[in-house]
Amino acid sequence: MASITPAGLTEEPPVAIESPETQPLLGQPSNETETEEGYVLLNLVSGTASIAQLGIWIFAALVWSNILSQPIILFTAHPLLAISGLLLQVQGILILQPTTTGPQKQRGARYHYIIQLISTFLFLAAFTVIEVNKGTHPHFVSAHGILGLLTVLFVTYQSLFGVVQYFVPGALLGSVENGKKIYKYHRWTGYVALLVLEIPTAIFGATQTGYSIAFLHIPLWAVIVAGLAVVLGAGARIRKFKLGL
Ligand code: HEM
Repeated sequence: MASITPAGLTEEPPVAIESPETQPLLGQPSNETETEEGYVLLNLVSGTASIAQLGIWIFAALVWSNILSQPIILFTAHPLLAISGLLLQVQGILILQPTTTGPQKQRGARYHYIIQLISTFLFLAAFTVIEVNKGTHPHFVSAHGILGLLTVLFVTYQSLFGVVQYFVPGALLGSVENGKKIYKYHRWTGYVALLVLEIPTAIFGATQTGYSIAFLHIPLWAVIVAGLAVVLGAGARIRKFKLGL
């Protein structure tokens, strides 16, 4: 059964769920395609998603607990909002990954766009807070600041791209078919952004800025291990056919 989107957009399903193209990048083909049609919440913890969850919740807990142990100032909101945005980005990916049938994809996509929309606003709010907080101090000078700017720009672009291809492909991309053809690019860029922008930005922010070094006690190894758990846990569930491979 093909998935049907609000715009009537359909995406070709896998020929057979057990075919080699549908196997995850790592490990065995799993039984993660839900038994109950359309029921997708279990995707948040099924299979190696639990490893990714462990990683992102440990990361977030380290940031929240360390930041909240400091005096509360305007800056406090920046890391709290940013790490919450990252936490949601990971949920948005995990919930959609194993979906294959039409009802699953439809329901998964609904959760996905709501979660990613909130996440994008959290990133934009974190960005606004740090810009106001830095005021006339030099901007975008540290590795974290530059990566952070790229992350915010990319997450915003990724969300807009997702909205266009899913909701208004006919109006803005010429046809529903064109929207369908570029689904895989949205997936590619989403994974690349998580790997090279979002997680590294959070690692640098939590451990390598002047503030983090002076006031926080977040071990670098801990956030690297947590970040790796997210990458491996989510990476192992990637289905090659969904990337056009
Ligand atoms: C992925 C999430 C994050 C994003 C997108 C992000 C984004 C940014 C950006 C764009 C700036 C530069 C502002 C400027 O120079 O005008 C910045 C600065 C800063 N961020 Fe983050 N941030 C994130 C997570 C964190 C975390 C988790 C922490 C700390 C625990 C943190 C701490 C800081 C600090 C201390 C600064 C000021 C120093 C500097 O500019 O390098 N950030 N952030």
